Amino acid sequence: MRPRIVERVNDHDLASAMMGLHDELARTFFAHQVALLDRDFATAARHLAAYREHLFAHAADEEAMVLPRYVELGGDATDAPVKLFLGEHRNLRTFVDDFVVRVRALCERRDDAALLELFDRQATFKNLVLHHDLRERNLLYPFLAARMAREEQVRVLAGRSYAGGAG
Ligand SMILES: [Fe+2]
Ligand SMILES: [Fe+2]
Repeated sequence: MRPRIVERVNDHDLASAMMGLHDELARTFFAHQVALLDRDFATAARHLAAYREHLFAHAADEEAMVLPRYVELGGDATDAPVKLFLGEHRNLRTFVDDFVVRVRALCERRDDAALLELFDRQATFKNLVLHHDLRERNLLYPFLAARMAREEQVRVLAGRSYAGGAG
């Protein structure tokens, strides 16, 4: 399924701006998988490198600026304590680092069995991403939107290392 086209991000709204980044990340991962389908492993590696850089920066921004506020505001008393988000980030990073190794091997030697195994692992990864996306979309950001002043939301957005748009 093609990722849906991202709606225009409202730069003053923490929830929609951050969730817009998820859509942008999904488009990069889609481009990576299309290149894999084409067995264009150099292009697949390039898209994956961009995806890794942006995903890791986004998760780091959340860990530095968003999740600490979530804890301060009482997020740990909800059904989605902060350790859940941190654990998911850790899992996502582990998967992506493994993909980098596997794509590098495919660049060196074509191997259909290895390519199919990579797609299988990426299916599991995409499921994790979906759950993480839903947890942030339905729990984390609505919780914060209801409790953080607009000025603070704007400040967090301005402090991000990954704000979308680039490559
Ligand atoms: Fe996020
Ligand atoms: Fe996240």
